Amino acid sequence: MRRAIYPGSFDPVTNGHLDIIQRGCKLFDEIIVAVLVNQDKTSFFSIEERCEMLSDVLETIDHGDCKVTVESFEGLLVQYAAERGAHAIVRGIRAISDYEYELQMALMNRRLQPRLETVFMMPAEAYSYVSSRLVKEVFQLGAPIAGLVPSLVEERMRQKK
Ligand code: PNS
Repeated sequence: MRRAIYPGSFDPVTNGHLDIIQRGCKLFDEIIVAVLVNQDKTSFFSIEERCEMLSDVLETIDHGDCKVTVESFEGLLVQYAAERGAHAIVRGIRAISDYEYELQMALMNRRLQPRLETVFMMPAEAYSYVSSRLVKEVFQLGAPIAGLVPSLVEERMRQKK
């Protein structure tokens, strides 16, 4: 039984995140999508809203035999991963610019918990420039975001405006 944690802010979940989850499903028996509870960050959606949207959109994707669940977590990722009995952390890398930050986190997490592996996955090229931050920025400036996030998320963003 191989269990992975896919941590992130998911504010909001994008089609790039879903692409990574689907790829991760080919490698793991279970993936826990873990939404960081971060009080410092000014977020668009609350933790509850993010978890709810994730749960809803995950029902619409093909995850084969992999069990995919959504949880929120606080504190150290490695501690949370240990509590959940996870073997790996999944992170998406879109471009070289992501690599430096991701490498730092992976190495720090390895130092803190040597048995926990970080697995980097590349999304489809079509999502290589998609980030939650840019989606929010262009949306707030009035640009269309169809195809970048699930339609349910687009709808919820419109309701917030
Ligand atoms: O989607 P994000 O914001 O890039 O995700 C960042 C995340 C949640 C993976 C990272 O901030 C994290 O793991 N936070 C939990 C606190 C922690 O363990 N920090 C040390 C990381 S080396």
